[in-house]
Amino acid sequence: MTFGGALRRSFSQKFDEELRFFRGWIDKPRAVGSIVPTSSYTAKRMASVIDPASGLPVLELGPGTGVITRAILARGVKPENLYSIEYSADFVEHLRENYPGVNFIQGDAFDLDTTLGALKDTVFDSVVSGVPLLNFPVDRRVAYIGALLDRLPAGRPIVQLTYGPMSPVPAGRGDYIVEHFDFMVRNIPPTQLWIYRRPARS
Ligand SMILES: C[S@@+](CC[C@H](N)C(=O)[O-])C[C@H]1O[C@@H](n2cnc3c(N)ncnc32)[C@H](O)[C@@H]1O
Repeated sequence: MTFGGALRRSFSQKFDEELRFFRGWIDKPRAVGSIVPTSSYTAKRMASVIDPASGLPVLELGPGTGVITRAILARGVKPENLYSIEYSADFVEHLRENYPGVNFIQGDAFDLDTTLGALKDTVFDSVVSGVPLLNFPVDRRVAYIGALLDRLPAGRPIVQLTYGPMSPVPAGRGDYIVEHFDFMVRNIPPTQLWIYRRPARS
């Protein structure tokens, strides 16, 4: 393909993703949480927490149009080593077409036992979450982080994006450490990235 052709394809893919995202937002504004997809800068920064050499699978939550999925694969994670849970059947259909080999699971990221089914005891390297936590009560957010950390080795991170100024999961509510990771200005709207982990015990 020529450079011009590749550029046109990349613009048309981006436009398609934005349109699909906007439609998703019209159908379910609280679940989708934003009117445009995450930027590639934010996606790359989130994927940077993954250790592809660990050999463990990676868990993604709320992939939407797949911008973060793409960054996770570009980080060196093999498609078959990526598990990705998305609530919207429409997004899942699109994701399966665009990211062959990735294990997309349609279901609720707040109910991991049911959604992961036979995989519920899997240990993951890390978690990358785009689920709009601010649209859920604080108690559910705390339970969400706890259920995810139960599936990670101590010390390994969950990275979470959020549009609010504060961590969506407050410190002091469970066995986890909260760290501010980054503030991404190149994102619409600008977004904060937070990390949650259990202390690595020696
Ligand atoms: C802010 S969007 C993520 C956008 C994505 N990073 C992108 O660029 O397309 C939030 C996503 O989380 C999904 N979501 C919301 N609640 C969910 C839940 N309980 N379980 C799984 N996915 C959920 C939404 O359907 C939506 O795709």
